Amino acid sequence: MTDLTTDKNTALEAIAQAASLDALEEQRVAALGKKGWVSLALKTLGQMSPEERSEAAPAIQAVRAEIADVIDAKKANLEAAALEAQLASETIDLTLPSPESPKGSIHPVSQVMDELAEIFVDLGFAVATGPEIEDDWHNFTALNMDESHPARAMHDTFYFPDTVSSNMAGAGAAVKDDGSAMTSRDHEQSLQMLLRTHTSPVQIRSLKEQGAPIRIIAPGRVYRSDSDATHTPMFHQVEGLVIDRDIHLGHLKWTLETFFKAFFEREDISLRLRPSYFPFTEPSVEVDVGYSNEGDRRVVGGHGDDEGHDWMELGGSGMVNRRVLEFAGVDPDVYQGFAFGLGIDRIAMLKYGMNDLRAFFDGDPRWLAHYGFSPFDQPTLSAGVGARS
Ligand code: FA5
Repeated sequence: MTDLTTDKNTALEAIAQAASLDALEEQRVAALGKKGWVSLALKTLGQMSPEERSEAAPAIQAVRAEIADVIDAKKANLEAAALEAQLASETIDLTLPSPESPKGSIHPVSQVMDELAEIFVDLGFAVATGPEIEDDWHNFTALNMDESHPARAMHDTFYFPDTVSSNMAGAGAAVKDDGSAMTSRDHEQSLQMLLRTHTSPVQIRSLKEQGAPIRIIAPGRVYRSDSDATHTPMFHQVEGLVIDRDIHLGHLKWTLETFFKAFFEREDISLRLRPSYFPFTEPSVEVDVGYSNEGDRRVVGGHGDDEGHDWMELGGSGMVNRRVLEFAGVDPDVYQGFAFGLGIDRIAMLKYGMNDLRAFFDGDPRWLAHYGFSPFDQPTLSAGVGARS
């Protein structure tokens, strides 16, 4: 028992002096480990007579408990001290200048989306969204492109395999929007899932949800199997839709002209509406903007037919086809309006001078450092929608 007291006092001394968690662990093993002196003392109980054991056991257990408690307390102390030391070594001097890198920036596409939302919201438009994984009905059929329509082929669509059969199980509606019965072929066609090829399905979704009158833009990602310097498999469009009574093509031209003047921050913007064809608009026009070349950069402004100028296509538009209004549940004898779809990446290239669209999606930090925007450059009409620090 005297030995035990001596061992205990020696251990308590060593524990008190342990300067690190490792040194403390050594003491714990020396006392409480399998071959530690406390464990060895406990083993001696087996050789004792019952009387000796009833006296020795509580004493050894008390020593074991005391050593364990002291070690726990010391461990907590050492851990707190280690944390203090770490915090002290990691303090930041807030008076130092901020580091040069790494530093994030806003992608030009995000910047342009914010810029155009700012301008259209000021013109009284709401911002709408729709799913990127779309069904065939919203992407094509309701936009007046039925199964056999040749315009479908121009969209280079990414389809999801096997979505028809899995969706067929849950297909409930047996009546089409026009009231006629759905055949199983209609079901199959309308439930085929795909990556939306344009933002135009948001026209249908918004009209079905809100009805007319309506004034929305819908910016977002779209997908086509297409790739070169001015085409990428994923790109961005902004859809515009205005449906009301007595809307005509003049309103479309005014809206686009007003938008482009605000967006490019110059008054000498000329638009040309060129006759075209989209199944979902009638008449349809393609929107071209006048520009001139400055070095290898295209600069928007001026009349495309003037000396040194030319026209560039920015998107499609037209008066919404009455078939589309019918599909979306709107009475075309009461309401009509216009829609447009612009390539956001193209107008970003024009405004900020990039010449290869593929670099937009490479994620190269040097490109982003050059063309990206500071998060502090929030586009506002008062400060200029394209402010750059
Ligand atoms: C459409 O997608 C129609 N939905 C536009 C529309 C909406 C017309 C409403 C009428 C009414 P189009 O396929 O032409 O049309 O594409 C519109 C614009 O998207 C093009 O002018 C171009 O700026 C851009 N675009 C098309 N394909 C690509 C691509 N692969 N990469 C980058 N931009 C593209």
